[in-house]
Amino acid sequence: MSEKIPVVDVNIGEKEIEEVIKVVRSKFLIEGKNTREFESKFAKFTGSKHAVTVVNGTSALHLALTALGIGPGDEVITTPFTFIASSNAITFNGAIPIFVDVDRNTYNIDPEKIREAITNKTKAIMPVHIFGNPSNMKEIMEIANEHDLYVIEDCAQAHDARISGKHLGTFGTLGVFSFYGTKNLIGGEGGAIISNDDELDEKIKSLKNHGRNPKGGYNHYQIGYNYRITDIVAAIMNVQMDRAHEILDRRHRNGNLYRKLLDNQEGLTIQKILPNHSSSDYIFAPLITKKDITPQMIISYLKKKNIASRTIYSVLSYEQPCYTNISEWIFAKVVNYPDYSKVSCPNAEYIATHHFELPMVSTLSDENIYYIVDSLKFFF
Ligand SMILES: Cc1ncc(COP(=O)(O)O)c(C=O)c1O
Repeated sequence: MSEKIPVVDVNIGEKEIEEVIKVVRSKFLIEGKNTREFESKFAKFTGSKHAVTVVNGTSALHLALTALGIGPGDEVITTPFTFIASSNAITFNGAIPIFVDVDRNTYNIDPEKIREAITNKTKAIMPVHIFGNPSNMKEIMEIANEHDLYVIEDCAQAHDARISGKHLGTFGTLGVFSFYGTKNLIGGEGGAIISNDDELDEKIKSLKNHGRNPKGGYNHYQIGYNYRITDIVAAIMNVQMDRAHEILDRRHRNGNLYRKLLDNQEGLTIQKILPNHSSSDYIFAPLITKKDITPQMIISYLKKKNIASRTIYSVLSYEQPCYTNISEWIFAKVVNYPDYSKVSCPNAEYIATHHFELPMVSTLSDENIYYIVDSLKFFF
């Protein structure tokens, strides 16, 4: 290939540009009709009753936890194999992330490990559908119902990921999405919280706007934040929603092709998708099973072939200095955090040190994928 195949690409067309210009020309830049239109499109897309937009996925997670009253000293069980935002959102409110191990095949939180970690301080479970692969929501919801726990689904990477046709984010108490500029559907920045609960929805709408009465005025019922988006971002996201099938179908085609061509490849295993689960195909990241081969060796080899590749979460959340030095966090004045340097999740550690990401973007062609797969096969 003469042109480099990127690992990240942005699928923005003329229509997005036109709509942005229209908003700017209208001079109505703040949340308005584009935002409301997007919320209704996104609720429809996910099959949820409500969708509220916020500035990004991190603030969406933060508001979800806040709306559920999760605060200082409460424990939230989550995975360490994710972007740092998942656990940080828990830590923002003084709640305690309890990291449990993942399943080595799916890379997602292991329900058995959730059971073992429940204490009388546990308030919620936060599964993260990593790389867009649905977590085992059947078992997670059984555990949550048994122990009366909230479930906040981190669907930042899971647009169009489903279980038996039902969109992720609709299984738990709340579902949280990101529209960061590299996600499946993008706004540059942007986030949303979906729910079927009228009361929670009202609360989230108020919390994102300084705890204000969502119907307007300067009455503030509760301490809130300014997590409002702009209509410029909403205009981009509206076009992305209209193009969702075109963008996402290409990703699914990429994922299916990789899975078909690399299943049973000597030296590798690929992320397992459970029966009746379908991935958003956000990231394709196999694990190396061949002794003495490191991710860096493959990445350097692919680079010579003009194929971009990388590792993503090679440092787990509990290994990050912000958790090993948690005593410096403001809430450490009032909350007893665990000693995160003593946490051990062997499966997550294995995945962190054995994975590498291949290009999965919606601008790839079948030819690109055959070339990437042939190059990998040659390597092994
Ligand atoms: C799993 C996960 N959770 C949360 C976030 C936070 O989203 P944002 O970057 O929009 O704040 C991201 C992504 O970027 C993510 O990948």
